[in-house]
Amino acid sequence: MDKFLINGGNKLFGSIEITTAKNAILPILAGCILCEDKIVLHKCPLYADVVNMIKILKNLGADIKYLTKDAEMENNCDIIIDCSNLKSYNIPHELASVIRSSIFSLGSILGRFKKAKVAYPGGCEIGARPIDLHIKGLRALNVKLTDKHGYIYCEGKDMKGGIVNLDFPSVGATENIILAAVLTKGETKIINAAKEPEIIDLIKFLNSMGAKITGAGTSVITINGVEKLNGCEYTPIPDRIIAGTYLVATLITGGKIDIHNFRPDHNQALLEKLKQTNNKWKIKNDILTVKCDGKNKAISKIETSPYPGFPTDMQAQILALQTKSKGTSIIIENLFETRYKHVPELIKMGANITCKDRTAIITGVEKLYGASVNATDLRGGVGLVLAGLCAEGYTTIENVHHIDRGYYKIEEDLKSLGADIERID
Ligand code: UD1
Repeated sequence: MDKFLINGGNKLFGSIEITTAKNAILPILAGCILCEDKIVLHKCPLYADVVNMIKILKNLGADIKYLTKDAEMENNCDIIIDCSNLKSYNIPHELASVIRSSIFSLGSILGRFKKAKVAYPGGCEIGARPIDLHIKGLRALNVKLTDKHGYIYCEGKDMKGGIVNLDFPSVGATENIILAAVLTKGETKIINAAKEPEIIDLIKFLNSMGAKITGAGTSVITINGVEKLNGCEYTPIPDRIIAGTYLVATLITGGKIDIHNFRPDHNQALLEKLKQTNNKWKIKNDILTVKCDGKNKAISKIETSPYPGFPTDMQAQILALQTKSKGTSIIIENLFETRYKHVPELIKMGANITCKDRTAIITGVEKLYGASVNATDLRGGVGLVLAGLCAEGYTTIENVHHIDRGYYKIEEDLKSLGADIERID
């Protein structure tokens, strides 16, 4: 398993271009299953989760071509997806277990074949992550579901539109139900739907193929089933979490960077909280420029919540920032119950954190010190990278394959900004 070796203390300087959002392109790739024409997706990133999702599509029988010089997949390349000859409605355990987003393919496969067999999904180890809301939603569309030996079996020959009342605005359940309803006769209404920018992007993509979906970005989404979808060309949105990660990385080390392809409208909750650090930045067109000295005031309270609230996917990075900020900060993690696995690792580096249940209290210290730490999930792992960048001495981070799920060669990006970081095995 690869590790990162970081010699902390370098400030970050230069510019970086934000690549496509993992959480946008994953459901969009699942959506391709619904279409029998060719689809061109621009700027497809090579995060491990995306590579695995492409394997899932190929396993179903999709023909996928890369529009690159050597016809091999490269980061940010354009791809053509042809799902006209799908031969399978089954996602086997070996593929589904490595990526939670395999669950979206359930809705798409059902929409296309009116039946599906999908192994229970994998993904980050950050809590129970049940799929009861997905199942409840599909049942409201008249799907019969059973589970046996780790597989979910779905029978959808009598599928029809219905009303789905979500107890919680789950991102994945909202996407899955949308995907199941697009080719299902009648009107489906999702009440208490998630409002994330990635949901809006999925709906824009589906509507560009002829789907009839309204209410994107609001808590009520209405889908009127259509007979078929046409091919399209689409560029998904940039990754707001990667953008936030590089912004926080610069605040923690000091320096000056330009973040290109930055969407302030998608990062409002983060920018609002970061104002409390006493730093300033400029945003012109889609470029955010930040210049700072690495000295930050603590943010008094941060509470994660569904969009437009503070994103749980930025919790580990902002927590790392608080470990070296002046003052005390309280973080409350409302989305995932065990999303503090980076905390004991940060304590090894000298951080002062008390953690109980969903609350972490962080008192900033003068210095963090390099240590040998372990990444146990994607965002927690990247939080450790940020701590390593500002720590005194060498930090080794084990199991960086978790980070590769949502960042493509993060070490190359950080090196290009002046960080001293290497991937070692
Ligand atoms: C998506 C994102 C993930 C992000 C999360 C919350 C993708 C690929 N992943 O994950 O990066 O951290 O949103 O913003 O887009 N829940 C249930 N039952 C369900 C479904 C969810 O109880 O059937 C609970 C979960 O356990 C969790 C909460 O709802 O506590 C939020 O989960 P959800 O919004 O579904 O997250 P994901 O779609 O898994």
